[in-house]
Amino acid sequence: MSEIRTVAVIGAGTMGHGIAQVCAVAGCDVLLQDVSEEALERGLAGVRASLERLVAKERLSKEDADAAVGRIEAVTSVAEAAQDADLVVEAVPEKIALKLELFAELAERTPEGAILATNTSSLSVTEIAAATDRPERCVGLHFFNPVPIMPLLEIIRGLRTDEATVETVLAFGRRLGKEPIVVNDWPGFATSRLGIILGCEAIRMVEQGVASPEAIDKAMELGYRHPMGPLRLTDLVGLDVRLHIMEHLHRELGEQFRPPALLRQMVRAGKLGRKSGEGFYRY
Ligand code: CAA
Repeated sequence: MSEIRTVAVIGAGTMGHGIAQVCAVAGCDVLLQDVSEEALERGLAGVRASLERLVAKERLSKEDADAAVGRIEAVTSVAEAAQDADLVVEAVPEKIALKLELFAELAERTPEGAILATNTSSLSVTEIAAATDRPERCVGLHFFNPVPIMPLLEIIRGLRTDEATVETVLAFGRRLGKEPIVVNDWPGFATSRLGIILGCEAIRMVEQGVASPEAIDKAMELGYRHPMGPLRLTDLVGLDVRLHIMEHLHRELGEQFRPPALLRQMVRAGKLGRKSGEGFYRY
């Protein structure tokens, strides 16, 4: 495929609407899909708020921001989103059954040459690709939160992904203004494997009474120059999201990823981080 013009983004949550935004700013026509009008409205509100921040900081002109919003069409049907897509980026919850079902449907609904990408942060790209008729054109495109700001794009090469697909998404990532890295498919890839282990240990340290969340975060922010400590970051990403990733990595890679009991308790109590108003901190 020579150029990606039309992108379908499946899922309008934090990651999905951020991905839709950067694709639209880069000049693509974007179809943003979610199951309900409310979810789409929340997603579009997120795009507008983020673009306003970029305009206020003079990182983007008002005209370019308005044009980007105009390039995003919100739809509730996967078939409608996928029918003319050159690239689909899936950003639905981290549940393998959901992703397998979706990729099987995408294989039927998209044009033959379309690339199918997953924004999974740890699940097997190879397994997701195997649900389709074109595993060679399936790839991982892992974005980071907040998507418009974070420079990294982690490209994951599944066992059957072909080099032409990797080359196409590399060029696409650069067009979005991202710095891509290419990694082979292995649980947690390069980023989540390292990021999660730090978050996991930080939660265990709270559990063991080593120090307060504030002190642990400050240790990494001031001692290691992390922009945000591991507990504040867990609140940003969502405690439920991190728990799902840990459960998967625990199954795949072993004991070091066993989710701390404190994390399970907090998720059960509805303390999911920023999105619920409380996690390790109150918002
Ligand atoms: N849209 C537009 N602009 C945004 C924004 C958004 N959503 N979020 C932040 N910004 C802008 C701000 O306006 C600000 O702009 P200026 O530099 O021009 O002033 C800049 O980004 C910095 O923001 P703030 O001043 O509000 O705060 P900050 O300096 O603490 O930065 C942060 C915020 C960018 C989130 C920073 O703390 C950070 O980089 N944190 C770590 C984030 C991280 O590690 N993300 C990865 C999470 S893991 C993941 O996403 C993958 C996964 O698989 C789950």
